[in-house]
Amino acid sequence: MKVAIFSAKKYDREFLDAANVPRHELRFFEPLLNEETAGLATGSEAVCVFVNDQVNAAVIAKLRSLGVRLIALRCAGYNNVDLSAATKHSIAVVRVPAYSPYAVAEHTIALMLALNRKVHRAYNRVREGNFALDGLVGFDMHGKTVGVIGTGQIGTVVAQILTGFICPTLAFDPFPNPTCRSLGVRYVELNELLAQSDIVSLHCPLTSENKYIINNAAITRMKNGVMLINTSRGALLDTIAIINGLKSGKIGSLGLDVYEEEEEIFFEDRSGLILSDDVFARLLTFPNVIITGHQAFFTREALSNIAATTIENITKFENNQPLEKLAG
Ligand code: NAI
Repeated sequence: MKVAIFSAKKYDREFLDAANVPRHELRFFEPLLNEETAGLATGSEAVCVFVNDQVNAAVIAKLRSLGVRLIALRCAGYNNVDLSAATKHSIAVVRVPAYSPYAVAEHTIALMLALNRKVHRAYNRVREGNFALDGLVGFDMHGKTVGVIGTGQIGTVVAQILTGFICPTLAFDPFPNPTCRSLGVRYVELNELLAQSDIVSLHCPLTSENKYIINNAAITRMKNGVMLINTSRGALLDTIAIINGLKSGKIGSLGLDVYEEEEEIFFEDRSGLILSDDVFARLLTFPNVIITGHQAFFTREALSNIAATTIENITKFENNQPLEKLAG
């Protein structure tokens, strides 16, 4: 099949080309997919997109008019795709439901440990010849209660790793997971999780129901000095409420791999440019905040699995084989 690949980076080309044994015709385009760039898909039967491509109703209508019949996401989350518009235009949508929960879970733990032991600050100090320890005191992870919101593939691996730290783990998920239960994870209501946890980590998809699940009211319920980690989707947090929580000290530390307005910022070298997002700029001023630019998935194993499943999805579609049905 002819496939237009949007938001294509060097590493996408490398891994997709390596996985392309069936020899689909892959056309790589650097721009993000949106109304202005959709025309690049002219002559393609499929588009392949990533987390920040804008696959809204207008873009889908345009793609259909160009003859596109398949949207292949090379990620798990599909909150950026208007599924009902895709159904209306008879365009199939496929994704990579699992590629390496370890990649994201391990990055989540990396953020927890770095924030706790202030590795980001220690790294800079030592390089400048400052070996003072003031301000670097952390806490033992051992015995701290961690609240995991969403215990699917990634949340489960986070819980598994945390058992090694001997952290009591609470979870909130409408569909409790037997693997987590067998690890000793205790399922509770969200409010109890927020009230009891020293660390809260988000691993649920972004839906219209849980946008800003961590808002002012949720923050009020949390322990003073709580550590909050979000490697899922930016809009799960009300960022203004988070900034207020950091200013008051209610939130003791914050680790982010995602940001609500990240499509304007992430995945590009903007080091020589002026940052125009004042909310993001404010987040960067806090010494107790670590932000990574949506890199939790970024391991060799994950990239290789993403490419393999994406090619397999395209081949299945081409051969009229059954595809995963995505819930709207
Ligand atoms: P999954 O589908 O295996 O698990 C998600 C879990 O969240 C399910 O058990 C579901 O029941 C639960 N859930 C749904 N709504 C909830 C709510 N309101 N409150 C609590 N739990 C809820 O998904 P997986 O693979 O574990 O991924 C989780 C999320 O991680 C993805 O949706 C995506 O947004 C994010 N992600 C981030 C990456 C990164 O590089 N930063 C890479 C991959 C995924």
